Amino acid sequence: MVGTDRRSVRLHLRGAPGGRALPLKSALDVEYSEFDLSCAQMKRYLITGASRGIGRAIAEKLAGKDVELLLHGRDTVALAQTRKVVEPQCAKVIPLIHDLATTRGVSDLIAEVGRDAIDLLVNNAGIAIVKPFTEITSIEWEQTVGVNVTAPFLLTQRFAPRMPPGSSVVNILSVAAKTAFSNWSAYCMSKFALEGFSRCVREELRDRKVRVINVYPAATDTEIWSQVEGKWPRDRMMSATQVADAVAFALARPTDTLIENITLSSLVGNL
Ligand SMILES: NC(=O)c1ccc[n+]([C@@H]2O[C@H](COP(=O)([O-])OP(=O)(O)OC[C@H]3O[C@@H](n4cnc5c(N)ncnc54)[C@H](OP(=O)(O)O)[C@@H]3O)[C@@H](O)[C@H]2O)c1
Repeated sequence: MVGTDRRSVRLHLRGAPGGRALPLKSALDVEYSEFDLSCAQMKRYLITGASRGIGRAIAEKLAGKDVELLLHGRDTVALAQTRKVVEPQCAKVIPLIHDLATTRGVSDLIAEVGRDAIDLLVNNAGIAIVKPFTEITSIEWEQTVGVNVTAPFLLTQRFAPRMPPGSSVVNILSVAAKTAFSNWSAYCMSKFALEGFSRCVREELRDRKVRVINVYPAATDTEIWSQVEGKWPRDRMMSATQVADAVAFALARPTDTLIENITLSSLVGNL
């Protein structure tokens, strides 16, 4: 379990203004208190791009009996596979199928998540168009901006202000948010942009005790590389599980501790 204990705080206050726990006086009190306690332990986590790769690994890592996982993807078959793996370990799993390249897809996702607050937003879904900048089409450019920048912006804008203290927003960026690579201009543009946005949001959310954790993985062995032309040494890449481990570690820190940035690379060196 990671994140806030908002509802248990409410229970505590109800027990005694000023923070002291009061003895329970009646069976009704006990019932009520137990009901609140079970709510207190329930967390809602939204992970985009959970159908495969890093998103799926994060879902597996964060699954827990006290967790309702809202798993987003486009590929229904792949998302069902993630669901099958995590469902036995979770209180509830809700698959959400939406295309984040369009603002319509993002608003449909927002509507399906509903009005209940979430305790964790993982902005993970992403695409990589890799080619010389002279060959990037305007559609590819817009899709990259849509999935990698606008979707995290809209989701963060919608959910973060309603998150209880102790909640977190995790952004899966990339080493390409800080370094330029030939032929990766569209991808670097999107990750640089998301990094700028999320660093400012981190400052705006500090007072509300909502943490913004930015993760910068180097090459990680996922299907994203199948679309990239050329031969890439998969055996020298990190695994998605290694990235998920780092995310889980940052989330498991006490809620007043913020691991702001995590840069991850394989010990065998960058590609
Ligand atoms: N792999 C790496 O080397 C690496 C390194 C640094 C950072 N990252 C970042 O890590 C994140 C996850 O990437 P990955 O490596 O796990 O890649 P992946 O295996 O290709 O997974 C990408 C995920 O994003 C979703 N997605 C893509 N386009 C979408 C769209 N239009 N609408 C909704 N969802 C969409 C995919 O959903 P569907 O499959 O269901 O369409 C999938 O779940 C990305 O933000 C990526 O930039 C990756």
